[in-house]
Parts: sequence; structure tokens; C-alpha cells
Amino acid sequence: MRDLIIIGAGPAGYVAAEHAGALGKKVLLVEQDKLGGVCLNRGCVPTKAFLHSAKLYEHALHAEAFGVSARGVAFDYPAMHARTRKVQATLVGGIAAMMKKNKVEVVTGAASIIDKNTIKVGGETHQAANLLIATGSRPFMPPIPGLAGNPAVVDSTGLLGAEKLAESVVVIGGGVIGIEFACFFALLGKPVTVVEMLPQICGAVDNEIAVTVQRRLESQGAKIHTGAKVEKLEGGAVFFTDKTGAAQTARAETVLCATGRAANLSGFGLENLNLAMDKRHIIVNDRAETSVPGVYAAGDVTGRWQLAHFASRQALVAVGNMFGHPEICRECAIPAVIYTDPEVACVGLNEAEAKAKGVFGRSLKMPLGASGRFLAETEGLRGFMKAVLGARDELLGMQIVGPYASEMIGAACVMIENEMRAKDIREIVFPHPTVAEIMKEIMF
Ligand code: NAI
Repeated sequence: MRDLIIIGAGPAGYVAAEHAGALGKKVLLVEQDKLGGVCLNRGCVPTKAFLHSAKLYEHALHAEAFGVSARGVAFDYPAMHARTRKVQATLVGGIAAMMKKNKVEVVTGAASIIDKNTIKVGGETHQAANLLIATGSRPFMPPIPGLAGNPAVVDSTGLLGAEKLAESVVVIGGGVIGIEFACFFALLGKPVTVVEMLPQICGAVDNEIAVTVQRRLESQGAKIHTGAKVEKLEGGAVFFTDKTGAAQTARAETVLCATGRAANLSGFGLENLNLAMDKRHIIVNDRAETSVPGVYAAGDVTGRWQLAHFASRQALVAVGNMFGHPEICRECAIPAVIYTDPEVACVGLNEAEAKAKGVFGRSLKMPLGASGRFLAETEGLRGFMKAVLGARDELLGMQIVGPYASEMIGAACVMIENEMRAKDIREIVFPHPTVAEIMKEIMF
């Protein structure tokens, strides 16, 4: 009998396997596709590689503002595609090596759960004392007439896999995935229209940030409709009612459906465990335990934060709790990034959320233009940072829109985790000149 069987080798599954293996446990990791899951093969990593290429292209086009003249600037989509595949292959190879190093047994195939200690893969039975379910999620397609089976419609997986770049795109859903793809197409100069049903894009981020991202995308050529209701599709034509109630049609070669992701809960015998579930997810506590002792779940199947870094954290917590190193998964400082140009990065509560929870003390805001480095390295760009403080003047949340936002937000996570107050943050010495200095400046 092994110590642990893990189903799914995404950022939850492979991190759990590595950690349990390093503890000297006998681990079996079962994956039906490639190691790395959606994050590495169809999500975070390929989109970042594509977006980086598009950002380089756009920056080269506008290099004159920086005294650099670049002529004949062009992009080569097949080369971008090939480079993205290379990056993925390197990372997948890295995970395989990590599994080997930690003596994790990896089986390729579809696992089927028999009971809480037993699974089958391709006719072979495997047993373990603990089971971790980390089967992830897949794109969700809403029941809009003309969507399902429409050859013009793709999901994010389809778009990332396309060998040829779409000449024009309508994006249904202005959440994180929709907006990152809209940015990619806008940067490459391709017509892109976003149709979002909520009053703002980018989900629950601070409204001023959502508006800033929307204006920037519009300045890059994207058309964005918020508060819009998609009525039906006919090929690449998307018929919708806009926020004024007027009927509109957006047409493109390709329609990207980016209306959220659904947890993978069926087709692998989950029903045999009789776990407590809500309609769409496996219910876990902050120790990543399900309702059945010895069965844990981590990542998108738990429906808490559909983010790779949260999945990995939950997985570590699960392994710690299985093997006598109790931990809990705190959720007060989970960062979220949107890799637009410029980036958005948020952690903790925004002002509206803090007020709704009754914990709001004060909010602070500063333009990134107060930073020497920001001014030196940007032209005509708007960026700002917001901090939300609680009643004890402790940092509750931070929102940034601007270059390097994703790299800066980690510092705010540490500050929130440590319940640092404005006064404590003022005492930190940041390197100069950096945009991150604003994190301290904003506290004065
Ligand atoms: P999402 O939930 O972020 O956004 C989906 C959007 O589609 C929402 O704004 C929703 O209002 C809209 N929508 C739903 N039905 C619609 C309809 N019929 N018509 C128009 N709009 C409609 O989901 P998304 O963008 O698909 O991403 C899935 C998950 O993956 C998210 O939880 C996200 O956090 C995660 N992700 C994270 C990334 C990152 O960390 N940078 C990158 C990509 C995804």
C-alpha cells in the first residue's frame, strides 16, 4: 500500500507529489495528459509567452518615443507558437525530472476511483492510505443559441492550440481569460470586440482599475461592451443587446468563449466516494480535507480561487495535514494578476470589499508617475497604486495597474500576511529607483 495517490498533475497535483516524495512517502501520480496540467500546457504559461511576444512587438512599434527607430517591425505568429511550445516542453521536462528526483511514480492514463483507498488505471489496481483529487477544470460554455457546435467558436484551449492566428476575434466574457486574449489580439493590431454581461470587465477588481484597463484596451483598438447580453450566434456573428438596450452585432473570423471554467468532477468515479459537494465543486475545509477522512482535494475542483498558485498552496497544506505537519490555507492574501499591457495585480480587499465587510479604515492612492523609474521607462502610460487599510491602519489590500505590477504584488502579500501597518511599511527601505518604492511612499 502506498502513502498517497494523486489524480491530476497540474499545479496542485505535481506540487503535492513533489512535497510528499521529498518527505520520503510512497507516491503515485496519475495524469491522463501531460504533466503540468492546464497551467503549463493550455493556460498560464502559454498565454504569458504569447503575450510577451505581442508586448515586444507593440513596444518595438512605438520605440521612437524612446529615441529608438525600428523599421520593418513585424511579427511571426508561427515563430511565437514554436517558442511557446519550447517553453512548455522545458517546464514539462522539469516537472518530470522533479518527480524522478523525489521518487514519485508517474502513471499516464485515466484514473477511476473505486473507493477512498483504491483506484484503477488501465485495468491495473493501485492502493494508498490517502487520496488527493486534483483534477482541475475545463472551459465552461453557457447555453447560448448557436454557441455549441459552431465551428467559428473556440475556447481558450482551442485558441492557444491554433496554428494560424485568427484575423479578427469576438470575445464573449470579459473576465481574466477574455481580457488577456483581447490584449494579445489588440497588441498585434487585430480587430477584437469584447462582450461582457457584467457592468465592468476584469471581474471583481477595483472599479477604477477595471475602467483603466478598459480605456487602455480601447486605446489599443479593442471594442468593449459591458452590461451586454449575448442573444445568439450565427457563425462568427455574435448578436447581443448592449447596455442601452440596443440590438448589436459583432462579427469576426473567430469567437472566443471565455465565460468561466467548470470543475472536472465526472468520468473518474468521484461518485463512489460520496463526498460533500456543492453543485459545482468538492467542499474542502482550510486544511484541504474533504468530508471523507483520508480524501483531500486541491485546486480548481474545490472552487475557491481558480488560480494556479492557490492550487499549489492548497496541495502543500493537504500533504502537510496527511503526514503530521498540520497547516491551514489562509486566504487573506491570495494575489491575482491580469497580464494585460500594463499589468494588473491585486491582493486582499479592495475598498468596496473592505466597506462591505465593515473593516474599512482608509484608502490611499498614488500615481506611478511619482516614480522616477516609471517616468524613465514609459511614455503616455497611466498607472497607479491603491492601498486599503483597516481600523488599526493595517494593510488589508493593494491594487496596482502598471508595468511590473505582477512582480511587485508579492511584497504586498507579505505585508498583509504579517498584518503590517502603514507605520511598519514606511520603515522598509526599497531599492531606488524602482516602481515598488511607491508601496512605501503611499503610506506617508
Ligand atoms: P471569469 O469568471 O474570470 O470571467 C468570465 C466572464 O464571463 C465574467 O466576467 C462573466 O460575467 C462573463 N460571462 C459569463 N457568461 C457570459 C455571457 N453569456 N455573456 C457575456 N459574458 C459572460 O472566467 P475566465 O476568464 O474564463 O477565467 C477562468 C478562471 O481562470 C478565472 O477564475 C481566472 O481567475 C483564472 N485565470 C487566471 C489567470 C491569471 O491568473 N492571470 C489567467 C487566466 C485565467
